[in-house]
Amino acid sequence: MSNAEAANAPDEKTFTLSNDETGDTVKLPIVEGTYGPHCIDIRQLYGQTGHFTLDPSFTATGSCKSRITYIDGDEGILMHRGYRIEDLAAKSSFMEVCYLLLYGDLPTQDQLDEFTHNIVYHTMVHDQMNYFYRGFRRDAHPMAVMCGVVGALSAFYHDSLDIFDPKQREISAHRLIAKIPTLAAMTMKYSMGQPFMYPRNDLSYPENFLYMCFAVPAEAYEVNPVLAKAMDRILILHADHEQNASTSTVRLAGSSQANPFACIAAGIASLWGPSHGGANQAVLEMLDQIGSKEHIPEFIERAKSKDDPFKLMGFGHRVYKNHDPRAQVLKESCDEVLDLLGVDDPRLELAMELERIALEDDYFKERKLFPNVDFYSGIILKAMGFPVEMFTVLFAVSRTVGWTSQWKEMMEEPSLKIGRPRQLYTGPAERPFIPMDKRG
Ligand code: SDX
Repeated sequence: MSNAEAANAPDEKTFTLSNDETGDTVKLPIVEGTYGPHCIDIRQLYGQTGHFTLDPSFTATGSCKSRITYIDGDEGILMHRGYRIEDLAAKSSFMEVCYLLLYGDLPTQDQLDEFTHNIVYHTMVHDQMNYFYRGFRRDAHPMAVMCGVVGALSAFYHDSLDIFDPKQREISAHRLIAKIPTLAAMTMKYSMGQPFMYPRNDLSYPENFLYMCFAVPAEAYEVNPVLAKAMDRILILHADHEQNASTSTVRLAGSSQANPFACIAAGIASLWGPSHGGANQAVLEMLDQIGSKEHIPEFIERAKSKDDPFKLMGFGHRVYKNHDPRAQVLKESCDEVLDLLGVDDPRLELAMELERIALEDDYFKERKLFPNVDFYSGIILKAMGFPVEMFTVLFAVSRTVGWTSQWKEMMEEPSLKIGRPRQLYTGPAERPFIPMDKRG
């Protein structure tokens, strides 16, 4: 049934739009999901009215149907395939969440064992990848390096680039989930001037990542189980988040039939921005800039001022107008991890005081600005020994499974159409060409 037929079917729910100037009306189908706002299917709008819709920054536009993640911003709810993030963070592992996001259900033990084996045996990268690092300055931002080396994966895996072959899509997904931690750890080592550590197949995903980041060839390295558990929880909390900027970037790149490695590299580039995944680094830098509790009021006023570009990093969210459930879990983990590591970071107390003061302030209350996932994550990562510049890379390590799952879901749609938004043109009307000697 076409959308036009659907809009006129007797029992179909429709939305009628009318043009006040001409009196013309158009009926558009209303589509309903499991949860969340219903959508008006506007695919016939231009054909029936000659009008586009206009929604810069996509504040009220659904780009796709998806079965992976649901966010209720008003209630502060986040679910992956129907499971609450609080339960997944407390009761499952990142490997289980990867399976859930990719395949739709929590794995049985046998399924998890097979999946984990497939991931573990793809963790090494082609040795030629090492040479890409040599081209970067040691002080290059790690996200700049990741944009380059992840995109370069396309140059190596020609045997899994047929995006219309489900088996090759699955191999690419496994390769990406497996190799991103290796490339991330190599990026960290390169910036420190330390030798790369090759992955170890006897370690779990979080243990292996920590090993590649913190071990050195000169001595044995035992992964701290507290750090491994904290790392696994951080990976779970950042895994997927509906159609955020970087996920939408991955989907749009994938809609042109670009290979999955190139799409994930595009997602990494989008995540880097301080309005998105780059906020975790910006939060630590902000806390260091604030310095002590006495200076909090000054920075709160700056955040509220229209004349000051300063924003409270780690605060606010396009969707959450209530607490970000991930921030709640990370805040609890902060206390636990710092205590178990015996780290006394004054930034944690400063962050908690900043949150308390902000949440009592009318400006933040009226705009429903709450701490988001980035507000507390950096404090834990700092306590774990990661350089601040690596924080967004860690976000990308986790989000790769979300990006890949969303890309896979899009590729499994019956028809893949290239994403191609339109615009409202507000430039100059047509005018005659001006020869050089007549200009100025
Ligand atoms: C992530 O989309 C996702 O799901 C993202 C993410 C994921 O998992 O993928 O959750 C991860 O990116 C979290 C967000 C990390 N970014 C930050 O912490 C940066 C600081 N936050 C802001 O830049 C902002 O809150 C955004 C970008 C997160 C959201 O911006 P919106 O939805 O476009 O909201 P807005 O800028 O229109 O703000 C509405 C009002 C404005 O004031 P008024 O014009 O109404 O007077 O709130 C103000 C803003 O100035 N505001 C802030 C603020 N965030 C919004 N004022 C001070 N400090 C802030 N942090």
